[in-house]
Amino acid sequence: MSRKERVYKIGEEEALRQKQIIEELSSSFQGKGLSYFIQTFGCQMNVRDSEKLVGILEKLGFSLAVKEKEADFIIYNTCCVRENAEQKVFGRLGSLKSYKEKNPHIKIAICGCMMQQENVLKEIKQKYRHVDLVFGTFNLYKFPELLQTHLETNQMVIDIWKEHQEIVEDLPSIRKDTFKAGVNIMYGCNNFCSYCIVPYVRGRERSRLPEEILAEVQRLVADGVKEIMLLGQNVNSYGKTLEQDYSFPDLLKDLTHIEGLERIRFMTSHPKDLSDELIKVMKESNKICRHLHLPVQAGSTKILKAMNRKYTKEHYLNLVKKIRSAMPNISLTTDIIVGFPGEHENEFQETLDLVQQVKFDGAFTFLYSKRTGTPGATMEDQIPEEKAKKHFNELLSILDSIVYENNLEKKEEILQILVEEANQENQTILTGRSDTNHLVHFAGDSSLVGKIVPVKITDAKPYYLIGELIV
Ligand code: SAH
Ligand code: SF4
Ligand code: F3S
Repeated sequence: MSRKERVYKIGEEEALRQKQIIEELSSSFQGKGLSYFIQTFGCQMNVRDSEKLVGILEKLGFSLAVKEKEADFIIYNTCCVRENAEQKVFGRLGSLKSYKEKNPHIKIAICGCMMQQENVLKEIKQKYRHVDLVFGTFNLYKFPELLQTHLETNQMVIDIWKEHQEIVEDLPSIRKDTFKAGVNIMYGCNNFCSYCIVPYVRGRERSRLPEEILAEVQRLVADGVKEIMLLGQNVNSYGKTLEQDYSFPDLLKDLTHIEGLERIRFMTSHPKDLSDELIKVMKESNKICRHLHLPVQAGSTKILKAMNRKYTKEHYLNLVKKIRSAMPNISLTTDIIVGFPGEHENEFQETLDLVQQVKFDGAFTFLYSKRTGTPGATMEDQIPEEKAKKHFNELLSILDSIVYENNLEKKEEILQILVEEANQENQTILTGRSDTNHLVHFAGDSSLVGKIVPVKITDAKPYYLIGELIV
């Protein structure tokens, strides 16, 4: 048996064990009308993890609560990428104290990236004794077992691993939508961008086996899924940890052959690893969406170097040129951090210059947040908050007008829209996304949710488009 097969077999055994525990526990929960509430903070990785937690909870016999403070089981799946994400969690957790005092039977669990930090654990142990279960990113699949331990001991159960041990597939999971789904293709990150906490809380990069991913997507498509989003912190380096010679473009090519699958998206792409082969595969396929989320983070080569991003401003601009000459209609979005150490006026101007050259179709902008344990936190020349905020606002107003101008250019175009939902108050207003990831509102019947329909764009707003269904 090869090493890979062995690791896989262990994963299978573990999944079976957890499933048995779910079965044992469910007899004490089923039929009691118990409900759960889950709050997910952070990125798509956490969204996907929460679907797994919900799958387990529903198998145990819980159903979704209408309100948080009516639920019998509350879970927060946390993010620590920026400080304000953490503060939100502590704030919410504090407000659960009195709810638990009034309803001592309820269970509170917290998990996810924040829990991988020792200072957070310390704070929870000291100030948040009303929490029952604490687990991390590497042992999420142990949730049934940890819950069992808690029920047996009635103590706060804390289980945090420093690194991953095996990839456990095949546990229950409930997907949010029936027509689109996120699929993990890899876990962790090896890049150690100097501002970023993710490699410390999500561990080393590891790719799932291609046959596992293909089988999962085939199952999803058989269940009616039309669009998949392949998830990883740096999808362009997919395959590097596999024994076989198999890359991200290889995976995309294999996925395009799945009949019934209509759209393939992926995120996130790191500019340093985006290959010509990937551009070629995208260009040749009409299933791979014409959208690339390509975080640049900063426009100054000096800052990029300090961030350990391993590309220059010129490299990024050339990459954009190459992508656009292969696929002229592609939409490009990005992430930008403002106020990284050493980013003064000149460096910031480079970001504005890059933004004006690329003319992004969308951008997430973040104020730099110092993360303890990352190299950025101890760098000299930290930027005062006032100055960073001023730059942040300047960048935002420039980006807003660029995005709006791009949106205006979409007028009169006919876009294929995957209808995602009907407006809750007015069921005749639908919302969907084009393959370029533009958000479009238009009138139509709610029976169209989950279908791909042609829509003519009639108007453009700063953050979305308005259209008319073509019948
Ligand atoms: N793996 C993805 C990003 C994951 S985190 C990538 O490399 O592109 C999502 C975004 O959060 C990052 O792109 C970055 O813009 C932002 N971010 C990460 N750490 C941050 C920090 N310490 N302060 C502010 N923004 C941060
Ligand atoms: Fe963080 Fe960089 Fe890894 Fe993205 S690539 S998760 S920004 S370390
Ligand atoms: Fe946050 Fe963890 Fe994602 S830190 S951004 S939830 S990987």
